[in-house]
Amino acid sequence: MRITVVGKGNVGGGLADLWEQAGHTVTRLGRDGGDVSDAEVVLLAVPGGAIAEALEKVGGIEGKTVIDATNLYGVVPPAGFASNAEFVKSKTNGPTAKAFNINFASLYPELSKARARPSNLWCGDAEAREAVEQLNRDAGYDPVWAGPIENAASQEALVKIVFAIGEGLGPFVYRMAPIEEL
Ligand SMILES: NC(=O)c1ccc[n+]([C@@H]2O[C@H](COP(=O)([O-])OP(=O)(O)OC[C@H]3O[C@@H](n4cnc5c(N)ncnc54)[C@H](OP(=O)(O)O)[C@@H]3O)[C@@H](O)[C@H]2O)c1
Repeated sequence: MRITVVGKGNVGGGLADLWEQAGHTVTRLGRDGGDVSDAEVVLLAVPGGAIAEALEKVGGIEGKTVIDATNLYGVVPPAGFASNAEFVKSKTNGPTAKAFNINFASLYPELSKARARPSNLWCGDAEAREAVEQLNRDAGYDPVWAGPIENAASQEALVKIVFAIGEGLGPFVYRMAPIEEL
């Protein structure tokens, strides 16, 4: 796949590395933005409070399949939206998913060492499913669907629980699967 990551830090850069290792072609954009016309999938991995500013600097995103990996720490989604993901969809009018926000980027290099493949929650549009699930598998995760895009606010809120658990465990992975697959 041709992928453009908007935000090339821990998440954007880390996933770009994993996806390149899996054979994808990845373009990395930073805070200066750029054009994503050539991309089949766009990953948004900028600070949660910078989503509107970031999208203003990205051209060619109309209709694209977009994966929003942002989290909101001490900030709220743009006015009128329950979640960053729904704001993103309002700007692109394309297939949209919330994914890669409920895991630790610091563990990307360790995923292949796990005894069982870690899960990664995603919610969003059916039209995004094929790309999102493929890119999850190619990053080393087992994708778990968490409902439609209307669930994005709940998935974004889950980061509070993730941080609380992380205070005890440190960076962790998790697995949600039918019992026979554990
Ligand atoms: N770190 C994690 O484990 C983790 C896990 C799940 C989700 N997340 C979420 O994923 C997002 C990225 O996290 P990260 O840890 O990768 O952050 P990061 O390492 O600080 O990288 C942030 C990226 O966003 C860009 N950026 C900063 N301000 C911007 C702005 N105003 N407009 C556009 N782009 C801007 C930066 O551009 P430059 O490269 O030009 O500086 C950088 O490439 C955040 O929303 C975070 O909450 C993080």
